[in-house]
Amino acid sequence: MAPPSDDSGPLGAAEAGAISKVLIVIAMQTEALPLVNRFRLVEAAAQESIFPKGAPWIRYHGEYKGLHIDLVWPGKDPVLGVDCVGTVSAALVTYASIRSLKPDLIINAGTAGGFKAKGAVIGDVFLASDVAFHDRRIPIPVFDMYGIGARKTFATPNILKELNLKVGKLSTGDSLDMPPHDESAILSNDATIKDMEGASVAYVADMLSTPAIFVKAVTDIADGEKPTAEEFLQNLIAVTAALDKAVTEVVDFVSGKCISDL
Ligand code: ADE
Repeated sequence: MAPPSDDSGPLGAAEAGAISKVLIVIAMQTEALPLVNRFRLVEAAAQESIFPKGAPWIRYHGEYKGLHIDLVWPGKDPVLGVDCVGTVSAALVTYASIRSLKPDLIINAGTAGGFKAKGAVIGDVFLASDVAFHDRRIPIPVFDMYGIGARKTFATPNILKELNLKVGKLSTGDSLDMPPHDESAILSNDATIKDMEGASVAYVADMLSTPAIFVKAVTDIADGEKPTAEEFLQNLIAVTAALDKAVTEVVDFVSGKCISDL
């Protein structure tokens, strides 16, 4: 076990030793299942649920290469039967999971739209350096900055050195499409990728002093010619394989390391 680092911040027990608990937060079942299989996770039984009764959230857990992995997915809307994507479910499930599981590290993994003007192509996997919101417009001084909620993600220079991931800023909003006012906010966030969860997961992780990283695979080109929903659905399965590979590489890298080694 490595000695504690001198510059330790207000982090959990892993600051002093090897990372033991990793929480993966994923919005869609299609994105989650390959990782559930890869890490041989099992679904938590109802009687061991850490979530409130009535919440559709789902947790898988297991041991992988010396790590305890929990993977949480907000589940399906009980009325409409579709994945509970977006910031509200992501923040809630992240909050409940951190409170109960006290992870050493959070990996928010998922798909994203990419901007070709910033060099993104379909199938790229990014590690987000920064996150911000693009649909919380509050044009009053200081509230405007609160709405945007820009923050740096937990820095992982050694992961970046070791793995073949692109780096870019992530902008989050509750819509798949991109009306002009979102586009200009995303531009002003200097984002290369856009998703529907990242900044909300980051908000909760920061609030609860838990390091979080954001692994996002590009399914569609937000500044391209094709209709976003069509391109997203067309590429979802293939790009999920790239996401699965990248998250596995990240988890393999994390195994046996301290937070300060990342
Ligand atoms: N996830 C995948 N593609 C996306 C997009 N274009 N916008 C938001 N979230 C996404």
